[in-house]
Amino acid sequence: MKRTANQWIHGGPIATALLLLVLAGHVRVAGADDDRFTASNEKWRAECGSCHVAYPPQLLAEESWQKLMSGLDKHFGTDASLDAVAAVEIGAFLTENAARGKRAWRAGSALRITETAWFRKEHRKVSAATWKNSKVKSPANCSACHTGAERGDYSEHSVSVPR
Ligand code: HEC
Ligand code: HEC
Repeated sequence: MKRTANQWIHGGPIATALLLLVLAGHVRVAGADDDRFTASNEKWRAECGSCHVAYPPQLLAEESWQKLMSGLDKHFGTDASLDAVAAVEIGAFLTENAARGKRAWRAGSALRITETAWFRKEHRKVSAATWKNSKVKSPANCSACHTGAERGDYSEHSVSVPR
């Protein structure tokens, strides 16, 4: 089923009840290492991890996830539409765990993680040649260098840049 912005924001009583259930059941992961993101959700992992690594919600601000979830039919040149139930659950998971504080400020309103100020700063030492390496292809291909990306580990200890 095609999902529109309207369905996500004004999803009707069933969607609202679902959203409340999801929020009530949410467990905040406190005290985790800054660059190891352990918050998880089954639907998010399955749906948002099918074309690329499931990007941790902590890497973009709440407003960016909202915009992104309202435009899944035109998702960076592809159609990533979801049914309304999955969209509500994933939307709640992403916004609840979105970047806070300094990282949110440094993420700004970018829709791409790779266009945020913090991403540019953390990756300033990566050369132009490396970004073009056929094993990397795109800066969005986190797991080309972050060997623990699948489990949300982006710490500097698990970086291995291909040559
Ligand atoms: C049908 C395939 C597909 C699905 C499903 C999909 N995406 Fe994407 N996504 C893409 C493509 C293609 C790109 C652009 C990748 C690139 O530029 O290398 C992208 C890029 C992104 C980016 C920006 C990455 C960057 O450059 O920083 C974010 C954030 C993102 N997706 C989030 C999501 C979320 C959240 C979901 C689940 C609701 C999702 N995606 C589901 C195909 C998909
Ligand atoms: C071409 C390789 C490459 C790609 C692709 C890449 N990174 Fe990185 N990343 C690095 C390098 C190198 C560092 C710096 C590690 C260090 O500080 O020693 C880094 C640092 C980071 C850090 C800070 C780690 C720390 O503990 O200081 C985060 C967070 C991060 N990357 C997230 C991402 C995300 C998310 C993506 C995909 C959207 C991504 N990276 C794509 C190579 C890459």
